[in-house]
Amino acid sequence: MSQRRPLKSRPAKSSVTDAGPRHLIDLHLLDAATVRRIVDDAHEMKRAGKRVPAAMRPAGIEDAVLVMIFEKPSTRTRVSFDIAMRQLGGQTIALNHTDLQLGRGETVSDTARVLSRYADAVMIRANKHSTLLELAENATIPIINGLTDESHPCQVLADVQTFEESVGPIAGQTVAWIGDGNNVAVSWMHAAVRLGFSLRIACPPSLKPEAKFIEWAHSEGGDITIGSDPVQAVAGAQCVVTDTWVSMGQTDAARRKKLLGAYAVDGRLMSKAAKGAIFLHCLPAYRGHEVTAEVLEGPQSRVWDEAENRLHAQKAVLAWCLGA
Ligand code: CP
Ligand code: NVA
Repeated sequence: MSQRRPLKSRPAKSSVTDAGPRHLIDLHLLDAATVRRIVDDAHEMKRAGKRVPAAMRPAGIEDAVLVMIFEKPSTRTRVSFDIAMRQLGGQTIALNHTDLQLGRGETVSDTARVLSRYADAVMIRANKHSTLLELAENATIPIINGLTDESHPCQVLADVQTFEESVGPIAGQTVAWIGDGNNVAVSWMHAAVRLGFSLRIACPPSLKPEAKFIEWAHSEGGDITIGSDPVQAVAGAQCVVTDTWVSMGQTDAARRKKLLGAYAVDGRLMSKAAKGAIFLHCLPAYRGHEVTAEVLEGPQSRVWDEAENRLHAQKAVLAWCLGA
């Protein structure tokens, strides 16, 4: 007998932390058990393969539609969510925001209320985090963060899955983030606190994660250090992570390249990490900038597994959001 919960929209709510639809806004807005459960489910989805067993699919998924809205380009997020939803048994609609009236001034709030009457969940890649929050505040269906200027939680769920495949359970381990203190770094901070691992960030002082994220991590007792020395950060780390020096929407490329020149991950830096350390990068990668081709293509790199794991992690996210 299936214990699956029926797929349906839930009452509107007044804040993203209230009971209501199961939004995936950010990992720090979920409790530790839920973050752990989604990563465990991602491992399970990978073992299950393309044909997801009925017990792992939300009830009613055959009639469910995920709407995906993109305000920025995407390869992995777009394709992995699309295929994840299909493998679960549901359907998708992918829209560039300029295809919507949103692109010519309809409010986010009105868009949220209308899409809630048609679809079963919305995944959005938004320029501004505030757009994601406004969508979630006004929707009665789950809203999923497919990257904003502030965070990229679905990426880091796949990253943690990749770490665990190669190294083992992440709790108590050490991860080093080298380079820009950007949206992906912030989701790593959220994950470190919720999953109980140490995070050593090395970045130029002017590119540190915003103070509000650092204060939150410390207020939660997270073991997160922020410095400017990459060698110090990777010492003892089982995993070294970096990302592009210039994120989508940033216009100060020359300044960033200058600031980040000393933060490239190369073979020498990898040799200072723990023995057997792995290398992760959410991709797209810019060889010769944030990482050398030697490291990206080398034996410590897990970036292709990491990209694949977006598919499995996205199935776990969708299953959770849709009530499985
Ligand atoms: N890593 C990632 O989110 O890739 P896309 O920008 O291709 O979606
Ligand atoms: N930090 C990058 C991640 C891309 C997946 C960006 O926001 O462009």
